[in-house]
Amino acid sequence: MLIDSHAHLDEDRFDKDRDKLIKSLNENGISMVINPGADLPSSIKSVKLSEQYDNIYAAVGVHPHSADEMDEGTIEVLKAFGNREKVVAIGEIGLDFYYDNSPRDIQRKWFKRQMELAKELNLPIIVHSREADQETFDMIKAQSDGNLTGVIHCYSGSVELMKEYIKLGYYISLGGPVTFKNAKTPKEVAKAVPLDRLLVETDSPYLTPEPYRGKRNEPLYVRHVAAMIAELREMTIEEIARATSENTKRLFNLR
Ligand code: NI
Repeated sequence: MLIDSHAHLDEDRFDKDRDKLIKSLNENGISMVINPGADLPSSIKSVKLSEQYDNIYAAVGVHPHSADEMDEGTIEVLKAFGNREKVVAIGEIGLDFYYDNSPRDIQRKWFKRQMELAKELNLPIIVHSREADQETFDMIKAQSDGNLTGVIHCYSGSVELMKEYIKLGYYISLGGPVTFKNAKTPKEVAKAVPLDRLLVETDSPYLTPEPYRGKRNEPLYVRHVAAMIAELREMTIEEIARATSENTKRLFNLR
């Protein structure tokens, strides 16, 4: 069984078939999905999904795209939801200097504040980083206290930086891009990540893996991500599934 460690099943694009899709996961080899929030409304939707379905766990947090909508009141709401039983992380949070949808200073401020919240709640973080590899790492390192940990979702950085995250106790999650023909670095990372720190994800409905590129992504396609990693590491998909499921459960403290 595989776990999709990152999917946005709360999004509108799943309105028509969400229930059917979630109920069909188990028979298709997906035991659980971690559903992170991207802003306050989607965080609340994620929590509701996790309370409605046994196989969904939620994270709450505000994505760097929406950082400029945040204030201390947002932190209070996230904190209240962060105490719910099936909320297993703060995320997704981080820096996005590719789109720059929020000013960079605002992104930094609320990334830091949400890391502090994660420490307060004793939860791991789910990190989004785009075109901000080094600064994301530096900010995470500055918050490291031997207790805070998390996952870099859909990791797109170098092998060298990946090793630095491993030293800090972080996990590396790979998604659809590892299946793309021209994705040289993700493939190198897939081979080099220590097996006990690897997670797999889809980031549904985004980043659809081959051979479904161009279609809506779904948790079922995590199998294609795992299959590519298995091929690159010369392992079986079952071995990848076992390791990544154990890792996901360990990181998010799931039973
Ligand atoms: Ni995401």
